[in-house]
Amino acid sequence: SAAAFTVRAEGGINPDVRKNEEKVVDSVVASELTKPLTAYCRCWRSGTFPLCDGSHVKHNKATGDNVGPLLVKK
Ligand code: FES
Repeated sequence: SAAAFTVRAEGGINPDVRKNEEKVVDSVVASELTKPLTAYCRCWRSGTFPLCDGSHVKHNKATGDNVGPLLVKK
């Protein structure tokens, strides 16, 4: 189905994460984290957003960017 919202060709940071939402917001209850370390995506390329899946490596190589995840320790 068509996205309800569109992104300008220039100035957009999110290529395809949940484009049907006006604003992508996630929240985490820190006390409910199960793993000692959780990586959250900040490059907007992860296939498992909001979790990091390593896609930032490909993005950085392709663009010269230097983005990486937010690591949250339990
Ligand atoms: Fe986006 Fe790792 S996949 S920061």
